[in-house]
Amino acid sequence: MAIINIGDHIEKVLWTEKQISDRVSNLASEITRDFSAAAAPVFVGVATGALIFLADLVRKIHLPITVDVIRVDSYGSGTVSSGKPSISCDLKSDVQGKHVVLVEDIVDTGNTLSCLIEHLKAKGASSVSVCALLDKPSRRKVSFEVVGDGKFYRGFQCPDYFIVGYGLDFAEKYRNLPYVGVLKPEMYNKYPSEI
Ligand code: PRP
Repeated sequence: MAIINIGDHIEKVLWTEKQISDRVSNLASEITRDFSAAAAPVFVGVATGALIFLADLVRKIHLPITVDVIRVDSYGSGTVSSGKPSISCDLKSDVQGKHVVLVEDIVDTGNTLSCLIEHLKAKGASSVSVCALLDKPSRRKVSFEVVGDGKFYRGFQCPDYFIVGYGLDFAEKYRNLPYVGVLKPEMYNKYPSEI
């Protein structure tokens, strides 16, 4: 069987595995400092993209936190947001009166976060922070605000390329790359029906 190197599909690496790991450590230290053990937050990863980041981040948090996931459908398998996210799988935890840290791989238009923040507010979270590995502010369409004493923790500001890896996909592929890179246009032009 031929071995396919998916790294060959990448035009350039934006953040290496080491750079990501160092930044995740910094974010985890910052969050650990900002909360107390007595009011340790619930970390909520937004599936599927944030799962790899969530797993790395929470293992570096030195507080008795809990971990949960939520699923929001917004992009389907294409590259253009429908603009109308909906929660397709809700939390297992009760977040009433609790601090929540929403963990995202990327903030793009802001639609997903704004929907989730409203959802968590309605569930009575006492604060909602956001920890996003990547932020593309140039693509923002919807503004969002953290809740209560919440903060926005941001890993890297991301240029407006079509990026994959470390949880980010194209048509559900490339999430397992350990780095974040720019996908070669011929890869997504090859599958126009996916866009
Ligand atoms: C991606 C990403 C964020 C969202 C950000 O998820 O993981 O959740 O898009 O985009 P926005 O700011 O424009 O709302 P996607 O819907 O692609 O699903 P996935 O996590 O399963 O890849």
